[in-house]
This record gives sequence, structure tokens and C-alpha cells, in this order.
Amino acid sequence: MEPVIRTIDLWKRYNQTEGNNSAALRGINLRIAAGEVVALYGKSGSGKTTLLNLLAGLDRPTQGRIEVEGQDLESLGEAGRTRLRRKRLGFVFQFFNLLPTLTVFENVFLSLELAGKPDREAAREALRAVGLDGKERRFPHELSGGEQQRVAIARAIVKEPAIILADEPTGNLDTHTGERVLDLLAGRCRHHGTTLIMATHSPLTCRFADRMLRMVDGLVIEERSGEEKQT
Ligand SMILES: Nc1ncnc2c1ncn2[C@@H]1O[C@H](COP(=O)(O)OP(=O)(O)O)[C@@H](O)[C@H]1O
Ligand SMILES: [Mg+2]
Repeated sequence: MEPVIRTIDLWKRYNQTEGNNSAALRGINLRIAAGEVVALYGKSGSGKTTLLNLLAGLDRPTQGRIEVEGQDLESLGEAGRTRLRRKRLGFVFQFFNLLPTLTVFENVFLSLELAGKPDREAAREALRAVGLDGKERRFPHELSGGEQQRVAIARAIVKEPAIILADEPTGNLDTHTGERVLDLLAGRCRHHGTTLIMATHSPLTCRFADRMLRMVDGLVIEERSGEEKQT
């Protein structure tokens, strides 16, 4: 099957003058199939955020190629990458990144407006799906951390993206709340066939994935499927 994400010999050097040893990514070759739930597992500094930023087209590789749904990100250009991001990708971050001056509803609705489908009922439905009906008019600071992350999940899922990229999605939550958030996020993605990539340094997150990609010093050094993990 055609992978939904493919990288070929992907390198990222933030400091062009330094050698290969200081590169944040050192030749990553990935194939991720549509609908897979993947944990990108590695210590702080191993390159997870760098890789997600490149996959999202938010930053550009020093070398190598990225294809998202068969499209080469470089040849899409800046405008094409922005369009792809708004319509086909969803994001969930460690610190939720909600807009503080917008209500819960408006945070979710904005994502739809940017995707070019301003459907108010879809926004309400996404908030129901994450269990936040009744809290539409609250502001982010009036919610708990777990609730804020559920708004972020609603904001990502509402546009029915092909891919959700989550960077340390439970990094700011206690274990119990984190489990509930992961259950919701991974469950929803499986149900809708959405590809989910979660960058994490927590083994807990890996339990919710079909496949674990282990990152060390800018390389993916090990791949394990969910079944192997349990033995
Ligand atoms: N904007 C940046 N400028 C320079 N170096 C960076 C930048 N972002 C990340 N790095 C470096 O790249 C490496 C990988 O970082 P990062 O992708 O943030 O890893 P992780 O998300 O796994 O913690 C680290 O050595 C980090 O210091
Ligand atoms: Mg990171």
C-alpha cells in the first residue's frame, strides 16, 4: 500500500557549519501507512520535535525528501504546504496551545474556518465527541489541563484530517488524565482511520500505539509492533 507518509534520507542540521554528528536528524527513512497509530519514542533531544516539524512542513530539511499523501513537500511550495497543513493535518501539543482569548467553541471553529469548512454543527459535534458539551463558552483558563487537551483534540479531529501529529500530548498531564486523553485520541483515530503519530518520552504513550519507532540521536534505530511489545 502507498504510505501516507514517507521520508527518504532525511537530514536536519540547525547549524550548517557543524558536522554530521551535531545534526538533529541523520538520514531518516520512514514509511507510515494510512491509519497507523505510531509512537515516536525517544529521550529529550533525540529529534522527535524536529521530525514532526518537518513532516508538518513547518520547517524544511537540510537534505532528503518528504512525501505526505504522495505529494513531495518541497515541490508544494510554502503556500501548498500551508494548505496541506490546514486541510489534511491536525496537531496536538504538550502545552495545548489553545488561543487564550477565544472560547472553547471558537478555538475549535477557527480550525474549521482555516480549513475552509466553517461548519458550526461540526464544531459542536467534535466537542461532544471529547465529552466537553456544555463547556463551549468557557475560556481555556477556566478548564483543567485534561479538559484543555481535549479541546486541542477536538480542534485537531474536527476537520477530519488524514494525519494527526501529537508532540508529547500527555507531557503536561498526570498519569491518569494522560491515559484518558490517549485513549480518546488513539481510539478516535482508529475509528476514523486517521493516521496518528505521537512523539513521546513516556512508555505509557507507546502502549496506545500499533507501532513504536525508537529514536536515538537523530536516527530511528528500532521498530517494534504492538504485539511484540507485549511479549
Ligand atoms: N531551533 C533549533 N535550533 C537549534 N537547534 C535545535 C533547534 N531545535 C532543536 N534543536 C536541537 O536539535 C536536537 C533535537 O531536538 P528536538 O527535535 O527538539 O528533540 P526532542 O523533541 O526529541 O526533544 C537537539 O540537540 C536540539 O538541541
Ligand atoms: Mg520535543
